This record gives sequence, structure tokens and C-alpha cells, in this order.
Amino acid sequence: MPDTYDRQPDPGVDAAGRSATGHHQASEALARSSSGMTAAKPDGSRPPIFVILISGTGSNMQAIVQACQSGACPANIAAVISNKADADGIVWAANAGVATSVVPHRAFPTREAFDLALAEEIDRHQPDYVLLAGFMRVLTSGFVQKYAGKLINIHPSLLPAFPGLHTHAQAIATGVQAHGCTIHFVTPVLDHGPVIAQGVVPVMHDDTPESLAARVLKVEHVMYPKVAAWLAEGRVSLLPDQRVEVKGVTSRLFSVETNGS
Ligand code: GRF
Repeated sequence: MPDTYDRQPDPGVDAAGRSATGHHQASEALARSSSGMTAAKPDGSRPPIFVILISGTGSNMQAIVQACQSGACPANIAAVISNKADADGIVWAANAGVATSVVPHRAFPTREAFDLALAEEIDRHQPDYVLLAGFMRVLTSGFVQKYAGKLINIHPSLLPAFPGLHTHAQAIATGVQAHGCTIHFVTPVLDHGPVIAQGVVPVMHDDTPESLAARVLKVEHVMYPKVAAWLAEGRVSLLPDQRVEVKGVTSRLFSVETNGS
């Protein structure tokens, strides 16, 4: 992850208050109408709609867009939204034919004001899921609760280890031998929430934060498109006990060798 972006904890976050997301199935969302970008399926239903939020390179976003464009992930990417006008991923997405927009956080006096503007932009697309893919702003609890059950994040560590920044440096400094990434439902607590999938990589004796980040990113690029497909196929449920179930999937652990099956 680009460790330099704004990830300061939001003072307004209620550290005790996990969002009560309840039971959610993507299949329920499938029945909803979309903005009509993709042809209806034979049964008349439309593919679910995703909006992806980025702040930088957007390599995970690229992997998801490619999966949707190839048919591996049966969803419509309605828009890629960045909080930074100079995010490389915005140019890539536009070139790939995806609608893009920028909501520059610096134009807003408070986190709440930015989140309201961001939500307005997201809601234009009526998405079934909002995927955070290297989106480096801490979101207010109000925003998180508004999208409870449909807000997904990827974090470059094996949560609950190493929330926050500099995860690869922390893994090396701590001496852990396994490191990786986590895709989870977002709750108001930073880098926390029901785990959908995890990817694991070894930590090598001569790793630098950069070499370790590159190894983790390879797994992220396999894992996020696959999880996006699970969401699009309506297979992901959030259980009342806040654990996740993915229909037809027995292992949600990814590595260079395995890919969640
Ligand atoms: C990834 O490591 C992701 O886990 C973290 O930020 C990085 C984003 O990279 N949240 P990219 O913008 O997808 O290339």
C-alpha cells in the first residue's frame, strides 16, 4: 500500500461500535435494477453494480476491472472514484472505458463534509457493493454505517495483525514468518471487520518492506477479483455472529499456490 496517504484515525469513530450489518446476501442485491450498462441476463435480472474507490495506482482496481471485462466476475463496474485527481488509476480506468470521477478530499473542510460528497457521488450509481481498493482515507462511522454490509476493503496484512500504516515494515520488524492481506467487510473500527478472505505469503530473511509489499500485492491481485466474483454471484453472506460464509467455498485462504476454492 502507498504508506504515505492519510490514514489518521478519525476522532469521530466510535471504537466500541461495530456496525450492526446483520445478514446480507448479494443475491438480494441482484434483484435490484442497475443503471443499465450491461445487458440483462436471460432470466431478466441485471448484474450487480460495483463502485470502486481508489487513491493511487489502483492495481487492485485494474485486476477487478479486467476480471469483470473478461467475464470472470459477473458485475458492472459503474464507476471508479478517487479522492486524488492525480491518481494513476483514474487514467487507467478511463482508458479501460470505465466512468471515473474525483472527489478531492482537500476541497472539504471536514471529514464529514468529504464523506457526504463522496456518498452523493457513489449513490448516483446505486451500487450493490462499494469496493475500497487502495483508498487511503479513513471514513467516518456515519459513512460506514450507511453502506453497512456492502462496503469491502483490502488491507495489506493478516488482520487482526498490523492494522493501520507501514504493515510490511511492521511485519519485518516483528519477525513474523507469515504475512499477507485481508479482504473484509468494513466496520467503523479502522482495518477491522468480518473477514471474507486472506492471502498469505512467507517473509524472507532478506526482505525489505518493498520486496514484501510486492509479494503481497501478487496475492492481492488474485484474491480481490475472486472475492469480487463471489460477491457478484451472490455467494457471500454475513452471518448474525459476524462471521462470513461463502457458498460453495471451503477455503478462503489464498497464497501463491492456492486460490480459494
Ligand atoms: C494494496 O496493498 C492494498 O492492500 C492497500 O493499498 C494498496 C493499494 O495498491 N489497501 P493499489 O492502489 O491497488 O495498487
